Amino acid sequence: MKTICVDASRSYQVHIGQQLIPQAGTYIQKIHPVCKAAIISDSNVYPLFGKNLESSLLESGFSVISFVFTAGESSKNGKTYLEILNFLAENEITRSDLLIALGGGVVGDITGFAAATFLRGVSYVQIPTTLLAMVDSSVGGKTAIDLPAGKNLAGAFYQPSLVLCDLSTLDQLPQEVFSDGCAEVIKYGVLYDAALFAHLADNGLEFDRESVIARCVELKRNVVKEDEFDTGARQMLNLGHTIGHGIEKQSDFMISHGKAVAIGMAVVSKAAGAYGLCDSSIYLRICKVLDLFKLPKTTNYSAEALYISALSDKKRSGGTVNLIVPLEIGRCAIQKTSTNDVKSFIKAGL
Ligand code: GLY
Repeated sequence: MKTICVDASRSYQVHIGQQLIPQAGTYIQKIHPVCKAAIISDSNVYPLFGKNLESSLLESGFSVISFVFTAGESSKNGKTYLEILNFLAENEITRSDLLIALGGGVVGDITGFAAATFLRGVSYVQIPTTLLAMVDSSVGGKTAIDLPAGKNLAGAFYQPSLVLCDLSTLDQLPQEVFSDGCAEVIKYGVLYDAALFAHLADNGLEFDRESVIARCVELKRNVVKEDEFDTGARQMLNLGHTIGHGIEKQSDFMISHGKAVAIGMAVVSKAAGAYGLCDSSIYLRICKVLDLFKLPKTTNYSAEALYISALSDKKRSGGTVNLIVPLEIGRCAIQKTSTNDVKSFIKAGL
């Protein structure tokens, strides 16, 4: 097992190892007094791991209640959020109790937002069960729900008290969902770590899961420590995301987040090469790794359509959009781009 300590407005540990769900009660007891624990999960994940988690908590003396909602991004909305709050209120959850998010990014984000706002703040634990949630959304305290106008438009920065990444859960993931998370893992290599990128290029889907996930969490921890509230360095984590969110939106969320980010990274690195910001070989090296992980690199959406979506993205401020561009593998930069120039930039990457 590997442990990474996150030092933000709340300090906490991220444990990465096998079979952590059956030991969850023991780990949670170390950081929180025994109390009522409300597990929030979805209809895909709860049937796989919910009972194991409940047993472990009960064995450690916690009392347990569980709320399960329909799996999918379409549940990450105000309706489900209010249902969770009402469930917590009806079950008399107090500030000394605990919420536990058991699932992927949707579960983690909505549970975190419920924890941030119920009674003005209740502690919560993240138990991510997808690769994407392990390396990204469960760490760093971004919590949110979607609004009809866009993804993650209502949310809060609210750090968890503990993160348990049980690697055994990844064995249950459909290949496609696993490969989706790989896009975020590749992103960390392009952003910060040429050695990580080389390991992924050499091993493809057979990469060393424990070490790679721990390295990604460590890299994210470093960024969150520097810029918890996303006003500077943390924006680097949006590599591929401005265009990626555009692709997700254009496809009515039929194209998954990981695939959209993969395309976004390809588009932005091709454009960066065309604008002379980096060597054009960077685009080819990124494409080779995306191929290895069976991730897409191109889209049929026009520069115009992606431009419109990019402008509605949260990364916009005033008349500029902060695009993240690779300079070399392992080093990227924030490119403040005037909204007038974004369309031509995207076009150069298609
Ligand atoms: N998912 C990007 C971030 O946590 O900032």
